[in-house]
Amino acid sequence: MSDMSFNPATTDWYYPTEDIVKNAHVPDYESVYKESMSDIEAFWAKRASTLEWFKPWDKVLDSSNAPFYKWFVGGKINIAHNALDRHVKTWRKNKVALIWEGEPGDKKSYSYWRLWQETNKFANVLKSMGVKKGDRVTIYMGRIPELMIAMLAVAKIGAIHSVVYGGFSEQALADRIEDAQSRVLITCDGAWLRGNIVELKKMADQAVHRSPVVESVIVVKRTGQEVHMEQGRDYWYHDLMGLPIASNICETEQTDAEDPLFILYTSGTTGKPKGILHTHGGYQVYTSTTLEWVFDIKDEDRWWCAADPGWITGHSYIVYSPLILGATSFMYEGAPTYPYPNRWWKMVEEYGITILYTAPTAIRGLMRFGDAWPNRHNLSSLRLLGSVGEPINPEAWRWYYNVIGKGKSPIMDTWWQTETGGFMITPLPSVGLKPGSATRPFPGIEVDVVDDEGNSCGPDEDGKLVIKQPWPSMLRTIYGDPDRFVQQYWKAYEKQGWYLAGDSARKDKDGYIWVIGRIDDVIKVSGYRLGTAEIESGLVSHKAVAEAAVIGVPDDVRGNVIYAYCILRAGFQGSDELVDQLKDHIRHEVGPIAVPTKIEFTNLLPKTRSGKIMRRVLKSRALGLPEGDISTLEE
Ligand code: WT7
Repeated sequence: MSDMSFNPATTDWYYPTEDIVKNAHVPDYESVYKESMSDIEAFWAKRASTLEWFKPWDKVLDSSNAPFYKWFVGGKINIAHNALDRHVKTWRKNKVALIWEGEPGDKKSYSYWRLWQETNKFANVLKSMGVKKGDRVTIYMGRIPELMIAMLAVAKIGAIHSVVYGGFSEQALADRIEDAQSRVLITCDGAWLRGNIVELKKMADQAVHRSPVVESVIVVKRTGQEVHMEQGRDYWYHDLMGLPIASNICETEQTDAEDPLFILYTSGTTGKPKGILHTHGGYQVYTSTTLEWVFDIKDEDRWWCAADPGWITGHSYIVYSPLILGATSFMYEGAPTYPYPNRWWKMVEEYGITILYTAPTAIRGLMRFGDAWPNRHNLSSLRLLGSVGEPINPEAWRWYYNVIGKGKSPIMDTWWQTETGGFMITPLPSVGLKPGSATRPFPGIEVDVVDDEGNSCGPDEDGKLVIKQPWPSMLRTIYGDPDRFVQQYWKAYEKQGWYLAGDSARKDKDGYIWVIGRIDDVIKVSGYRLGTAEIESGLVSHKAVAEAAVIGVPDDVRGNVIYAYCILRAGFQGSDELVDQLKDHIRHEVGPIAVPTKIEFTNLLPKTRSGKIMRRVLKSRALGLPEGDISTLEE
């Protein structure tokens, strides 16, 4: 699917209306970009000064220990202060911060004042449980307001959150708890999805059993079914919030700009997930600037980022930057098509959503149900649309633009990564669009498409995407593994000092970037990032499997689906029952998103002479394509 996005024949231009450009925060991309590049440090210093600092920075950028860059050195700032504390001193205390709808249809909303108080109360609860500055707290919850409150409370006291997406299962959760060494886990009894309960507490119990470092578990009651509560370890959130200790006043920790804010695990080339580390200072400067300029957030907007807070998209653009900007956000708990395929469009109409930001896989999934579902609703409140997660194919782009946006809402196709913290290549509402291209770098960002030696590729030539200058929300390291950080991102272009994104891309004659896809062993399934090695080690952990290889195969809705090839141990026979068992095993070891669509048993896997599995060959075979260069194949 990704390869189809580059099609010069379809590169017609789309321009935002004059009204949108005229009223935008940045009506002239070109001049702002040019100005930013003339002095990057001055540019970011100016942006940083829009926030409240406990103590100003001494130095904008410290490159003395590159690639371990530091931003706003010497400055003291806490993201929870800029997201909440400073707003309750102004008229914004009465503004709606969050409107929330549960899948069963229940509704809640929080003003800035109320969100601030709840955060303070929960911060005090955490403190009373002994959580201190620098401690890691793991959060494993559904898409409910308490998830946001938990993250903010952790940040407020200077602790570090590690949110694990609720779609992951017990082993994946246990691995992440273990890596972060979290003594406290915050979860809920369950989450609603397609009318069913996802048993989060049950999975959390299993994970804690496998990773006994956890001493306390805080449980939010959401779905209400009976759950096991371990005496002396498990506590109900609502009980704790009712204690006198949960006072609604809590002093915000005066964290250093470079103090860690969170760890977020993501997939890479090896089976071990990478704990991407972000900090208080640069991260808030970058995410608030990008959200304000790209989605042109105004006080009267109702912003809906339909991602999960458990991913970087949710961290940056549901939780932190909208609050920093004092915006009103909407959050929805459940599935887009539940109970009917008009659920999203009904909510856009009902809540008067002005900006919708989602992923190509969701758009393709909804497009499948036809135009009648969105056409039953008045979607005229929409002003801007957004896309993220993988290249958007032009067909889905046009449907989104015409049927949802009625041809008047430009689509901001934002390319970025867990590692980058915020949008890197993206239009602003003053940039001409080409369906399928993420267009141009954000101001202050220098990107290029280069060959292995680092020469810039010619127009429309395939190359590697690199970022040539540091930026404030760049990852600081991989938690507990600085060598891997250097190796993974900075080794390939060590001489030049460039960041290797891990994507292949092309730049066209107008300087527009077309991202093609990953160059490493990462597969994007429904926009989720999965490592082949994680799924393979999940398969091999089953007693029947001796060896496994997985590949991504293009799929119309999900972008890619997973095919797995397994060599069985002696004494085991391939059967439909075993296929089902293995799928179930992956569901528990990794999570439902990682379950292969197809599992095939084989006696042999294509390997190089050095023993590396040639996934490329498996993929060509699966697609019925020529196998290409197989001179290194040992078979
Ligand atoms: C990878 C990063 C950033 C939030 C969600 C994903 C792919 C992301 C786009 C886009 C083409 C995209 C890249 C990237 N990707 N956005 N607009 N166009 N590809 O974060 O899970 O860290 O994945 O997602 O391959 O490297 P992530």
